[in-house]
Amino acid sequence: MCGIVGYIGVQQAYPILIKGLHRLEYRGYDSAGVSMINEEGTLSVFKEKGKVAALEASVEGKDISGTIGIAHTRWATHGEPNAKNAHPHYSQSKNLSLVHNGIIENYKTLRTKLEEKGFEFQSDTDTEVLVQLIEYQEEKDNCDLYTAVQRSLKIVEGAYAIAVLDKRNPDVLIAARKSSPLIIGVGQNNHENNGQAEFFLGSDATPIIEYTNQVVYLKDEEIAYMDRDGHLRITNLANVEQTPDMQTLQMNLDELEKGGFPHFMLKEIYEQPNALRNCIRGRLSIEEKDIKLSGIIDYREKFLSARRIIICACGTSWHSALIGKYFIEEAAQIPVEVEYASEFRYRNPVITANDIVIAVSQSGETADTLAAIQLAKEKGAFIYGICNVIGSSIARATDTGTYLHVGPEIGVASTKAFTGQVTALFMLGLAIAKEKRTLSDDMFHMLIDELLMIPDKMQWTLEHNKDVEKFSQIFTYAKNFIYLGRGYNYPVALEGALKLKEISYIHAEGYPAAEMKHGPIALIDEEMPVVVIAPKKGMYDKVVSNIQEIKSRKGKIISVVTEGDTTVRDMSDYCFEIPDTRDCYVPLLAAIPLQLMSYYVAVAKGRNVDQPRNLAKSVTVE
Ligand code: G6P
Repeated sequence: MCGIVGYIGVQQAYPILIKGLHRLEYRGYDSAGVSMINEEGTLSVFKEKGKVAALEASVEGKDISGTIGIAHTRWATHGEPNAKNAHPHYSQSKNLSLVHNGIIENYKTLRTKLEEKGFEFQSDTDTEVLVQLIEYQEEKDNCDLYTAVQRSLKIVEGAYAIAVLDKRNPDVLIAARKSSPLIIGVGQNNHENNGQAEFFLGSDATPIIEYTNQVVYLKDEEIAYMDRDGHLRITNLANVEQTPDMQTLQMNLDELEKGGFPHFMLKEIYEQPNALRNCIRGRLSIEEKDIKLSGIIDYREKFLSARRIIICACGTSWHSALIGKYFIEEAAQIPVEVEYASEFRYRNPVITANDIVIAVSQSGETADTLAAIQLAKEKGAFIYGICNVIGSSIARATDTGTYLHVGPEIGVASTKAFTGQVTALFMLGLAIAKEKRTLSDDMFHMLIDELLMIPDKMQWTLEHNKDVEKFSQIFTYAKNFIYLGRGYNYPVALEGALKLKEISYIHAEGYPAAEMKHGPIALIDEEMPVVVIAPKKGMYDKVVSNIQEIKSRKGKIISVVTEGDTTVRDMSDYCFEIPDTRDCYVPLLAAIPLQLMSYYVAVAKGRNVDQPRNLAKSVTVE
């Protein structure tokens, strides 16, 4: 997830671009850049590592004039976050500059071909391939920029929202999209500008709303041509003219930043189907029924000879690690231990060179997790990272790893990063199992097929549990909650309880359901809500017995069941349904109603959902 801004008109572009970048910083903030064409026709590019403020400081005293420009705030996917990899990127001749949000999946192949044709690359990004390809198409076919963009986009695979400047055409701005958002703002103040038109571009409407509420949402595989005379032409990749669908924006700025949701947490809960699609994109292939994780392919021998895996993490990441343990042991037949990083680092753990230590961390900055892998490294272990933030301290300290690609998570309570981590660990388990041949071909293909279906099943879960808001309000009275699950759903119970604690400040505990009888059952009375994850899978009958034990002590049952299951539904006071899936993948679906319930309980109690008291998104102290 990155942020794109663009402008063409009569005003100075730079202030509009910078203001827009600040508004899009929630989409990414590891580096930023701008590109303008000035009166003399010079195409400039300024870029800097860090937040937009760092970019502003770096352009002081430089010529930032021009009434056409593009800008970008980056959330790295390919290539470390530094100035070299920041956008905009020049083409070889420096006639073109381009910004991009998305992932070009076939960039390696394209880069090799372009290098053979003499193109020299300045960065490690997939984006630079795009701008070089456009230049190559322009020269090869002797065509205009619009056609070159169109032809290039037919060749690339993946997701993109782009904006392109051409110093030979300072009166034209080109933009296109597929799978990544891009909005065109059509200037309203033409009379104030002596009748001259202006157009704005934004990844969302926040950089645009101040200037105009007339917008066109670019659709997949559409390319837009905008010029100073007010022409807006949109075609698809096949060059078929499209009628721009002009809409009037009704939302205010704050609503827009959160995508119309009242809180980032709710937005991030709803983002999960797409976040997971991004997480598996380019790694799981539906056609080949295969998995490609470069971290495993490059270090195949390490994984083949591994004696055991130790996963170190904190908080929500520790819960995803526990699900990862169950899966990796089952699929790849390697013993896995899960450690709280804060404990591990101060013990004297036995670690050998045949151990693989995996750090799981959304932020990649958690001090305890970082210290744990530093210790493991000193003891000779091979270190693998599963992080969301590209180029973060943990990502840099590891030997290799897998990024989540779920986009920045702003809400303090982790939601999409949790399901992203679980998915990354599933992919890791599958990739190791493939190398070790510990799964039959049928089982391997079935697990891949089913994982590919999870984003759609998540969507279903979000759409079919709308009444969670209504009945969450009933539980604001509760002082305690118990969450129960077995097998893969025990960590889900832990995570459900943590979510509720974090944002509603209600005390909650997660237990393996069968442990109830060893103590916690003494807590049950008619006041106690008990959340049970009870899918019609593996230990279903045993969980049903556990529910009966609670019912007979008058506890209130809130259950998560497989769609159509009436047995548990009839025993429950409230019930959430999830679609049927493999046992191991249930956590990815069951987590969703629990996240929603925590959210709505906290909202009903008037809590600050996105910034709960005493908590921080990234804990860089011990
Ligand atoms: C903090 C956050 C949690 C997170 C934990 C670990 O406590 O509030 O949401 O799970 O840190 O963070 P990490 O970035 O390492 O996943």
